[in-house]
Amino acid sequence: MLDRRRHGPWALVAGASEGLGAAFAEGAAAAGLGVIGVARSEGKLAATLDAIGRRHGVPTLAVPLDLARPDAAAVLRERVADREVGTLVYDAAYAPVGAFLDAPLSDALLAVDVNVRAPLALVHAFGGPMATRGRGAIVWVSSMSGFHGTARLATYAGTKAFGRVFTEGLWDELRAAGVDVLVSCPGAVGTPRYLATTAKDVGPVMDAEQVVRETYGALGHRPTLVPGRVNRAARRVLGRLLPGALAVRLMGRSTRTLYGE
Ligand SMILES: NC(=O)c1ccc[n+]([C@@H]2O[C@H](COP(=O)([O-])OP(=O)(O)OC[C@H]3O[C@@H](n4cnc5c(N)ncnc54)[C@H](OP(=O)(O)O)[C@@H]3O)[C@@H](O)[C@H]2O)c1
Repeated sequence: MLDRRRHGPWALVAGASEGLGAAFAEGAAAAGLGVIGVARSEGKLAATLDAIGRRHGVPTLAVPLDLARPDAAAVLRERVADREVGTLVYDAAYAPVGAFLDAPLSDALLAVDVNVRAPLALVHAFGGPMATRGRGAIVWVSSMSGFHGTARLATYAGTKAFGRVFTEGLWDELRAAGVDVLVSCPGAVGTPRYLATTAKDVGPVMDAEQVVRETYGALGHRPTLVPGRVNRAARRVLGRLLPGALAVRLMGRSTRTLYGE
């Protein structure tokens, strides 16, 4: 559970303007934490954070910023100033869809910047003070795609796998320091982007609030969470019962259906 004394007084949510990130920001505010939110769209971010702050009576700070910038962590540290960040949620992602060789390399490298380089830099910048204080929470939002190679989402799935494996290692490193580290690996979530970009559902679609409830609820209990009972069952089948090549082909087939190929 997210707890203000253990994980406050501020939560920094990277990717807070809408979708799952906005729900993570709302969940942190509901637990009494102030919220620092990051996204590129300045107006949408400010409106989301203002509404969250009013609903829960907590302070908020909007930091419009492109996390693909190499100096994103440094810029954020400066904007955060002396606010004590007790919780870091990295939710922002870039997901290029399509065959890897058909898109310019810069597309894949942008996904690496947003999904890998920036969260590593933020964890490094804000995780150190947490470890020194002996408390805090770090949530890396990965995906069920982070368990298997996935055709048409090969780079995205690779970055999500990095997040999962890295975060599991960090969980073990920071346990003794009192910092709760968790990687959350959702399946489909009915966010505005998911609804705008997909052609057909290929499994259960969770709502963002449920994903957030389960994710914050798992803090301090385990390194890895797949939200949703049906998703956990699917994960067991794909990960343990099916041969690896078949699992990869099934993931690729469902991605092609999802994106209307
Ligand atoms: N939705 C799903 O079905 C699903 C399933 C599994 C995993 N996930 C993971 O859950 C997370 C959120 O998904 P979502 O559907 O809510 O995604 P989304 O709608 O794309 O939201 C991502 C958030 O990140 C921000 N963002 C994106 N790129 C950014 C950048 N370069 N710099 C700063 N902010 C940036 C977006 O705001 P701006 O556009 O204003 O910058 C938005 O606030 C992602 O990590 C995704 O991989 C989602």
